[in-house]
Amino acid sequence: MGMKISVCGKGGSGKSTLVGLLAAAAQARDLTTLVVDSDESNSGLFRMLGFNEPPIPLMALVGGKEGIKEKMNQPSILSETNITLEQIPDGYINEKNGLKLVSIGKIHQALEGCACPMGVLSREFLKKLRLAKDEIAMVDMEAGIEHFGRGVDNSIDVVLVVVEPSFESIALAEKIKDLAAGINKQLWAVLNKISSDNLIDEIKTKLKCREMETIGVISYDASVFHAGLKGDTLIQGRATHQAGEILEFLLTAIKR
Ligand SMILES: Nc1ncnc2c1ncn2[C@@H]1O[C@H](COP(=O)(O)OP(=O)(O)OP(=O)(O)O)[C@@H](O)[C@H]1O
Ligand SMILES: [Mg+2]
Repeated sequence: MGMKISVCGKGGSGKSTLVGLLAAAAQARDLTTLVVDSDESNSGLFRMLGFNEPPIPLMALVGGKEGIKEKMNQPSILSETNITLEQIPDGYINEKNGLKLVSIGKIHQALEGCACPMGVLSREFLKKLRLAKDEIAMVDMEAGIEHFGRGVDNSIDVVLVVVEPSFESIALAEKIKDLAAGINKQLWAVLNKISSDNLIDEIKTKLKCREMETIGVISYDASVFHAGLKGDTLIQGRATHQAGEILEFLLTAIKR
């Protein structure tokens, strides 16, 4: 069976960037990768992944936020017990060279209300998602920890927590570690925006003291920053190479 990875961390720590880098690394290895955009506030992930437009949110399949409670029980792909990638209707999944993208839903308007129905849909979709052996799903989570409370992480195989060099990022990673442990999930840390080797040792040690193992480092990379600024696709460079090493680790470490 394929693996489901959730990418969590503090706002702005680099979750979407890491998802983009890992997806590119998986693509380079001819693995089919499904990126699940589970962050309602993300607007540029599709561009980062090289798509011209976003997929129609899965929320639309269940009638938008208004209708979600009633519609979840009515026939639609989301009422299936299992969902394979082939079953996702055209328009709701973007595809390019083995890279696929689905989006749970977006909040477009201020005061549109609670994001909970999106949490419910993320949770149900990930639970029902059936992956083939050579398929990987990577979930770009919303910042913070609320998705744990909504059970979104219950059916994933591993939690990656992105840690940037800040006290808050490390403190949040520790909370995420406790929540992941509470649902028996493997958690590993990935350092991001690292500008020196000394910093790697310092943060790794801090994380180790908090019982978190670091499996990879993404350097601060000006080309990543500029791609983020322009809303462009990530360019091959040091960061993509480092993400490749992280992917290799995951492929080896996780029993599939
Ligand atoms: N390794 C890096 N080198 C340089 N800039 C980076 C790196 N990683 C991320 N950034 C920049 O940091 C900013 C935040 O990154 P990103 O959007 O990936 O974070 P996020 O955790 O997904 O944020 P959000 O919580 O808002 O979804 C972006 O401007 C991005 O280009
Ligand atoms: Mg993001």
